[in-house]
Amino acid sequence: MHLLSLFDVSAEEITHMLTLAGYMKAHPASFQNSLKHKSIAMLFEKPSLRTRVSFEVGIHQLGAQPIYLDAQMVQPGQRESVEDIARNLACWTHGIVARVFKHETLHKLTAANIPVINALCDIHHPCQTLADLLTIQERYPIDMKVVDILYVGEGNNVCQSFMVGAAALDLKLTVICPPSYGPKQSFLDTLNARYPNHRIEIGTDLNAVRHADVIYTDTWLSMGDARDYQKTCEIFAPYQVNQALVSRLTATTVMHCLPAHRNDEITDEVMDSSISAVLQQAENRLYVQKAVFHHLFQEFSNV
Ligand code: CP
Ligand code: NVA
Repeated sequence: MHLLSLFDVSAEEITHMLTLAGYMKAHPASFQNSLKHKSIAMLFEKPSLRTRVSFEVGIHQLGAQPIYLDAQMVQPGQRESVEDIARNLACWTHGIVARVFKHETLHKLTAANIPVINALCDIHHPCQTLADLLTIQERYPIDMKVVDILYVGEGNNVCQSFMVGAAALDLKLTVICPPSYGPKQSFLDTLNARYPNHRIEIGTDLNAVRHADVIYTDTWLSMGDARDYQKTCEIFAPYQVNQALVSRLTATTVMHCLPAHRNDEITDEVMDSSISAVLQQAENRLYVQKAVFHHLFQEFSNV
């Protein structure tokens, strides 16, 4: 079993991993032998702070050895094929964590039949979503299903993964993006087919939103996107998460996966405010990823 996106797991598995992550957070010394005597390759084609560090620390904490591979050194698809890289990695390691430009590269990495975990691609960022869901669960423990969640910004990898997580857990989510910058139609077709009764609404008019408990935003320009940043800022400016928006919607939590362009998609005032959950999200990456490993490797060891 792999985690290329949250479509690879059921709603029950997501709930199980969140429970496991919560347990691991409360009991830091638990599950120390989940990955004992194993090695995990970490292939990164893009920069990272949170993902790299939280994976390396988590892999250590589960008793395994992380091996970080910079794509500039390995040169996937140039020095050798992605499939051959995977087959070689499987000679020495037991799983691959990969941050890639194209989702297709993750599929190629599955050639070696060891678990592959998506650490961000152009379409999905599943581990981020699991951390986000854990964060929302911690902040609204009574019932996440009654929380009004707003995602505002680009309909990018973070947004799309969050939509899958929200649909799986039957959360109320509104997605507001500038015209032509919403989630991709091919992604929406898959989402609607998998979760036909989801409670996600998509629009372009932020003024039409009357209330949100949680406001989530992300960068207006993702890594590897060649659009002009200044022009992008002009288009996205009305979609900024600032104190006026927080007050108007009476929000009680503001989220951002980070890294943030401060005072572009989110103001300093909001990001550093008492309702900001950004560091809680970052911290939770560690626990959900440990839970993902435990879940995937248990399955593999049963094969
Ligand atoms: N949120 C996140 O994935 O951060 P990094 O790009 O720093 O890993
Ligand atoms: N959407 C952003 C997320 C970074 C964690 C990007 O892909 O660059």
